[in-house]
Amino acid sequence: MQLLAVIYIIAAVTFILGLKMLSHPATARKGNLIAAAGMAIAIIGTIFLYEHDGRNLHNYTWMFAAIIIGSAIGTLAAKKVKMTAMPEMVSLFNGMGGACAALISISEFQDIGIEAAPGLHINILPEGGQSRLLIILLGLIIGSVSFAGSIIAWGKLNSRIKDFAFKGQHLLNILLLIAILFVAAYLVFNINDGNFYLFYFVFAASLLYGILFVFPIGGADMPVVISLLNSFTGVAAACGGFLYDNKAMLTGGILVGSAGTLLTVLMCKAMNRSLTNVLIGSFGASAATTGTKKEHGAYKEISLSDAAMVMAYAHKVMIVPGYGLAVAQAQHACHDLEKLLAEKGVDVKYAIHPVAGRMPGHMNVLLAEADVSYDNLLEMEEANEEFSSTDVVLVLGANDVVNPAAKNDPASPIYGMPILEVELAKTCIVNKRSMKPGYAGIENDLFFRPKTSMLFGDAKKVLQDLIGEIKNM
Ligand code: TAP
Repeated sequence: MQLLAVIYIIAAVTFILGLKMLSHPATARKGNLIAAAGMAIAIIGTIFLYEHDGRNLHNYTWMFAAIIIGSAIGTLAAKKVKMTAMPEMVSLFNGMGGACAALISISEFQDIGIEAAPGLHINILPEGGQSRLLIILLGLIIGSVSFAGSIIAWGKLNSRIKDFAFKGQHLLNILLLIAILFVAAYLVFNINDGNFYLFYFVFAASLLYGILFVFPIGGADMPVVISLLNSFTGVAAACGGFLYDNKAMLTGGILVGSAGTLLTVLMCKAMNRSLTNVLIGSFGASAATTGTKKEHGAYKEISLSDAAMVMAYAHKVMIVPGYGLAVAQAQHACHDLEKLLAEKGVDVKYAIHPVAGRMPGHMNVLLAEADVSYDNLLEMEEANEEFSSTDVVLVLGANDVVNPAAKNDPASPIYGMPILEVELAKTCIVNKRSMKPGYAGIENDLFFRPKTSMLFGDAKKVLQDLIGEIKNM
């Protein structure tokens, strides 16, 4: 038992170290491996050393079969997943965590140790049973909401499930949540084997709540929802840690819970939106968003050869990647252009907006995949200081994160969101396929400004053509 306690402490330390290292792209991979190794020793330690009432675990065949099958599925899924489908996979895996927490609660409820005659309406739980039942119910509710919500988020992200909203939906959700909490509280104080069915009511109602809670949220807001559900799963897992007095599970759960909450808050901040607005607002959903209607005039286009020339003869070029770069899978072509320009003596940097793309760190991960040096990635504040000394900004499939309306149109839905101030540069070339809006569904005044030129086309194709043009110069 002593050895197991030491193992749990080591595991907890690796989780904290891993999380710390995940906060920088250069150390993220190693951090992930360290935390995974900690989790592996915690699992192996539990399987072979856990003891309860003098008995050890013994279902080795079942346990190892589950570990082997689960690891094989996880490894294959992670290797095969496309970068743009990453939020889907995270959502699905998070849902599995929620389901595990709910299943733990269901199995522990069978063991709650009630000894009443049927129909006896008194509380006859053994000592400490009430707090145990409270934790079981918390794990059940939070885990089930997280499981059902994550599955809906997964379906929305891959368009298997369409946005679905009806009048009074939010009121229904609130009433359902109140009913779940009321019945759970009643059960804690009035449990007897005649009302066990209420436990299963709480289970079913929590699943339903998870579905209804995520259904009305716009598909594009799913990363924020997934992060929130991720923090739910962490709390549900921590409940399991309490039940089994398992320090590794408890620490892991608390870390996931707090990291998920922080990430949710940071994402909302970077979009300048409140969590309530994400959860019940229609921003990013199909509903039309508002803003001051402006007469924009005409935009101007630039040819490939002119764009190539302007960049090749510049001193300093700043690339602004966005969601379109990820869609086009243009990260490698982008790195090739960067290398080619650098060979010609151009100073090339990347300006990374915290919510560029569709998930936290999307652009960093994408560019790291193409071996872009971290030293060339500038965070928003740093980049904003450098734009005024930049000759050419090349915006690649980014839209909202460079929309000046966020700064100067109080009626715009993105007003207040910090942006990359690309209009400070001498020239701005914007690559996208059309004049269609981005995620927020609003027009972008930048495209009509005198210093801006549009370079239409798929990002990957345009970058490859630019490379060809520069090589032929
Ligand atoms: P968006 O504003 O969505 O703009 C992306 C642009 O890429 C679109 O206007 C699209 O225009 C263009 N595009 C699409 N496919 C392309 C392709 N193959 N080649 C070239 N261009 C292509 O993206 P953004 O500027 O990166 O901003 C991100 C948005 O997502 C923000 O509003 C943010 O709040 C939101 N969001 C982000 C996160 C995180 S954590 N990253 C989470 C939730 C929400 P065309 O269709 O004309 O090509």
